[in-house]
Amino acid sequence: MLADKRILLVVSGSVSAYKALELIRLLRKAGARVTPVLTAGGARFVTPHALQAIAGEAVHQDLWSLQAEAEIGHIRLARLPDLVAVVPASADLLAKMAHGLADDLATTLLLATDRPVLVAPAMNWAMWGHPATVANMAALAARGVRVVGPAVGAMAEAESGPGRLSEPAEILAAIEAALTAAGEGLLLAPPLALPLTGRHALVTSGPTHEPIDPVRYIANRSSGQQGHAIAGALAALGARVTLVSGPVTIADPAGVAVVRVQSAREMLAACEAALPAEIAVCAAAVADWRTAREAGQKLKKVPGEPPPPLELALNPDILATLSRHARRPALVVGFAAETETVVENAMAKRQRKGCDWIVANDVSGDVMGGAENTVHLVSAEGVEDWPRLPKAEVARRLAARIARAVTAP
Ligand code: CTP
Repeated sequence: MLADKRILLVVSGSVSAYKALELIRLLRKAGARVTPVLTAGGARFVTPHALQAIAGEAVHQDLWSLQAEAEIGHIRLARLPDLVAVVPASADLLAKMAHGLADDLATTLLLATDRPVLVAPAMNWAMWGHPATVANMAALAARGVRVVGPAVGAMAEAESGPGRLSEPAEILAAIEAALTAAGEGLLLAPPLALPLTGRHALVTSGPTHEPIDPVRYIANRSSGQQGHAIAGALAALGARVTLVSGPVTIADPAGVAVVRVQSAREMLAACEAALPAEIAVCAAAVADWRTAREAGQKLKKVPGEPPPPLELALNPDILATLSRHARRPALVVGFAAETETVVENAMAKRQRKGCDWIVANDVSGDVMGGAENTVHLVSAEGVEDWPRLPKAEVARRLAARIARAVTAP
């Protein structure tokens, strides 16, 4: 399959660049010719000498090299191969490709080529999960760029998650598959595998309304912003998301199935109906109490009579119910809205409710209904204090953490 095929191999900046050497060896063993192109970042991790020695061909590095331009020229170099492979593809190079930048030899070749392009991303899990990278990858996939990996596993920073460069043998197989598809006139990229592709996430959001009579209800100040942002961030990482939302005035997040409810009891029923799910995030500000008896008719003022008593009954606890459910999601995340001793209360709440993580937020200020949030992530491993962040950023970080937790080997 690879005999006499010519591969232009772009090596960009990543610790994993050394794996490109093994890929070249495999490609050559399979009969392919490999022309390496090294970016400035790539040259920090692997030397041109090593690439040249293993490829048995000159390494191209400089867009402005008079000699290289005279000998071959970058446009011809871009048209020469049967396939262009970017291994490893750094977040920066992918961003440049997505935006059509051409400020060095590698990006210029990638913009000038009319050949099939395959990328093997390699970066930290948080960079891979960042909405910017997610959007860049979606743009590249829509243009027919093929993607292999990234794999999930240990990273250079002693962290673990999705973002590891795929193994050379896997990349070799992907190159063969891309060449076969190209030979058959199929240039479209396969569906992009995002970190949470194939997982179901259940998210609760917003307040609940507990009716007193047909026109009055008990409610709270929750806007649904945080829960909706989390639902959107999980969907952006590829999850199938069911958002069970109390009454809110904000827009539905993109790519999410929304189930609208009013009361806590309706919210619980909708959540149980949505199971099974691998992930549950209870961000709703569920009313702890409802009226013991909902009046069938509007309560009337009677002159001379005292106000009617408001007797309350305890609502079901959705977070606690899901945490102890026969079909418990693998990761259950709750929120703790606290106004004092935030972390201590959250730790106790985590135990009491039986969930895995608690996102504790201090609601003593303008958090409820506001655009920002200061949170602490409380888990069995300890407490992480996050800086004050826009709610969308809290959502993005939490979704990336969730992706790491549920995809960890
Ligand atoms: N929660 C829930 N169902 C309820 C009450 C709360 O699912 N009936 C969830 C919330 O979505 C949140 C977490 O439980 O994830 C914590 O809610 P919070 O109101 O902060 O705590 P309470 O259980 O009300 O405890 P406290 O009275 O100490 O504030």
